[in-house]
Order: sequence, then structure tokens, then C-alpha cells
Amino acid sequence: MSPLADRYGRRFPYLRLSVIPACNFRCTYCLPHGYHADPHAAQPLSLAEIARLLRGFAELGMHKLRITGGEPSVRHDLTEVLRTAAAAPGVTKLAMTTNGSLLSRRLHEWMDAGLNAINVSVDSLDRANFARITGHDRLDDILHGVDMALGAGMASVKLNAVLLRGVNDGELPAWLDYLRERRIGLRFIELMQTGDNLAFFRDRHVRAELLETQLLESGWQLLPRAADAGPAREYRHADYAGRIGIIAPYSKDFCSGCNRLRVTATGDLRLCLFGEFGIPLRPLLQADEQLEDLVRAIGGQIGRKEQGHFLHEGRTGITPHLASTGG
Ligand code: 5AD
Ligand code: SF4
Repeated sequence: MSPLADRYGRRFPYLRLSVIPACNFRCTYCLPHGYHADPHAAQPLSLAEIARLLRGFAELGMHKLRITGGEPSVRHDLTEVLRTAAAAPGVTKLAMTTNGSLLSRRLHEWMDAGLNAINVSVDSLDRANFARITGHDRLDDILHGVDMALGAGMASVKLNAVLLRGVNDGELPAWLDYLRERRIGLRFIELMQTGDNLAFFRDRHVRAELLETQLLESGWQLLPRAADAGPAREYRHADYAGRIGIIAPYSKDFCSGCNRLRVTATGDLRLCLFGEFGIPLRPLLQADEQLEDLVRAIGGQIGRKEQGHFLHEGRTGITPHLASTGG
């Protein structure tokens, strides 16, 4: 079957699969009171369901897969999830987004299972600030895990930092020091409004453009957008081994580069992080014989994908916080 394309000509080689909604951190912008399980909620997809799901997406041209949460490592069988994902047909890049709390302990196990790219959330390089934002004084150990991943030859190591006005938006000098010798892609992410964080968003949202001006003034250059690139704007500088990406969901044309679909931990297809609905795929993941129906169901939904999100109008869709969809 030909690869998926929507009404706007966008293709979706990239799937982000949440494997658990729970998280052990309490980031101020996401789960300020920690994760509270709903006792009536369905269990996350099993390994067999995940394997069937990935076979379906592979038929539709998916070749990059990102495992997200919540925090994926809260799931006890994460290594098996990674092994299942790496074995899925067509998957050439297996990435994971993590808060890094188990990175230094599990890195080699995860890499042996097939993980070849990692994004670690590091909102601040200042220990006290990091603890304030995440609720956990774990910065040093997490940065150690990041250096281990670089040393172990992980193909891609990226860090995510959510920009928070008056909290961590003055740390560019520290980040530049950090990136001088490290082949790391740092992503500054503009805070997004979600269903739960409106007051926080009003207080702390800061436009990433301010930071981009500082980068340009210090000699960083915007790279031309690669054909298959996602929505980040990438900068490089000859004196630095690292790169800096800007994810600014409120900027013009952000959605035109959209190349991804999402599936929640319980198997709902989400066409957009901020969409109004999810389509339950789980009923189509119960037997190998359902593959054709699954492929047809996903293919049929792609035609409903909207051109852009409605965040500018404050419409956050059904996303209470990004732990629920994996960001
Ligand atoms: N706005 C921007 N980024 C967010 N993340 C979580 N919630 C938000 C939000 N409201 C980020 C996390 C992590 C990634 C999965 O998404 O920090 O790096
Ligand atoms: Fe957990 Fe990530 Fe949300 Fe922080 S942003 S609370 S690490 S899911």
C-alpha cells in the first residue's frame, strides 16, 4: 500500500506511541501534583497488541517510531516493549522520550533491545532549578546518563527544555557551554497550553523567538529545513559540536511540517496532539487476522486530519496534559 498522505499532502512516516500514561515526576507545567491513576482506566496495550499495531502502521509507511509516556520507564516491561518495537517490520529508527530517571541504570539494556535514539527532558542545567521544575533533585544522575548515551554511541541524543518565563529562560549561556563539546541536539520547546495548565500557561509562556534572536546575534545559523524534518527549526554554529532546535507551536506554518501520528497508551489514534477526538484502535488489535481492517481504519482516519491546531484560539482539544498523549 502506498504511504499515508492527508488532504494537505503531508505524509506520516513517524509514529509516536505512548506506552503508559503514568509518570514518576511532577513537572510544574504537566503534572504539578504528580500522576494519579484512574482505577477504572483501561490497562496499557500489551506486547501482543503493540506488535499488531506496529505491523499495521508499517503497512502504511511508518518507519520512525518514538516510544513516549507519561514516562515509558515506569512500565516494568519497557525493555520487552523496545524489543517488540525494534522487531516491527519497517522500523529503521527507534527513539524514546524519557525524563532520564532510569537512563544511567538501563541504558545498555535498552540499547541491546534496539533503542537507537533518545530524547531526555532536561528543563534546566541548574540543580536547584531542575528540582523545582520536576519535583526531583536528579539532575546530576540524569546528565550522567546522557553522557553515557553519547559514550555508548547512541545514534541520536537530544535534550528537551521547555521554556518557562522567569524560571529557566535566562540559561542560554550555561547551555552554550554544555553544547560546545557535546554532539547533542538541544530542543527549546515553547510552553503549550493544555486543558489543565491555563493559569500556569498565562504566567509562564514565553515566545521562543526571543531566544532565536539571541542565537542569531551570537553567530548561530538557521539550517534549511530538510524534506523529512518535523516542526523544529534547527540552528548550528561552527564552534559548537551541539545543535539547537526551536519548537514554537504558536508560530506560523508550524503544522505544515507535521509528519507524525500518535497513539495513546490504551490504543487511541490521535491525529493531532490538540485534536478533539481519539479513535480506538484496540478492538482491531485482538487477532493477527485483523491486520487488513486495522490498516483500513487508520488509512481512513488520515483523511480527517486538520490542517492545523486551534491553540491560538485557546482550543486545546482533549489533552488535559501531555502525559496523557506523550507530547
Ligand atoms: N508544553 C510544552 N512541552 C511540554 N512537555 C510536556 N508538557 C508540555 C507542555 N505543556 C514536554 C516535556 C517533554 C516532552 C515529551 O514534552 O518536557 O520533554
Ligand atoms: Fe512526567 Fe514528562 Fe510530564 Fe514531566 S513532562 S511530569 S517527566 S510526563
